[in-house]
Amino acid sequence: MHDHDDSRITLDLADENATTALARRLTAQLKPGMVIYLNGDLGAGKTSLVRGVLNALGHTGHVKSPTYTLLEPYHVGGLDLRHFDLYRLQDENEWEQAGFRDEFDGNNILFIEWPEKAPVPPADIVIDLVILQQGRRAIMISNTAIGKACLKLL
Ligand SMILES: Nc1ncnc2c1ncn2[C@@H]1O[C@H](COP(=O)(O)OP(=O)(O)OP(=O)(O)O)[C@@H](O)[C@H]1O
Ligand SMILES: [Mg+2]
Repeated sequence: MHDHDDSRITLDLADENATTALARRLTAQLKPGMVIYLNGDLGAGKTSLVRGVLNALGHTGHVKSPTYTLLEPYHVGGLDLRHFDLYRLQDENEWEQAGFRDEFDGNNILFIEWPEKAPVPPADIVIDLVILQQGRRAIMISNTAIGKACLKLL
């Protein structure tokens, strides 16, 4: 299954290699300041996708899930990338206290797992990962002109 219009792409990812391939294509279209939400159940592949992006940018180190730190920062391939996993965020107060809002500075590229846990700024692209019997389905929706331009070239 693969449909494609200007603001929505659905793509089936048969295995982890397909997730990595999507990450590589997405990486080529990343622009400073982009905000990307990653939705999907535990184990859907949100962190796998970010790992694929970082590897595509040339990151060679470990990519650990920011399960407890909530945020992992990276500078790689000339880009500043921030990987949030807000699953364990206690409340909005913790979000404010941590100063996480400052990370949305128009330069950092933000990948956010569990964005519904905090008052996160709006996304350019929302990626939903659905667990299939075999593999995953990625549904990518653009909400802004920047997001739309990105998906168009994907
Ligand atoms: N297209 C795919 N088909 C099958 N398995 C996949 C695919 N992509 C990734 N995986 C596997 O699914 C798992 C995804 O784990 P990952 O930590 O990325 O999930 P997550 O969505 O970040 O979960 P959490 O909400 O717990 O952080 C990994 O074991 C990975 O190897
Ligand atoms: Mg994860």
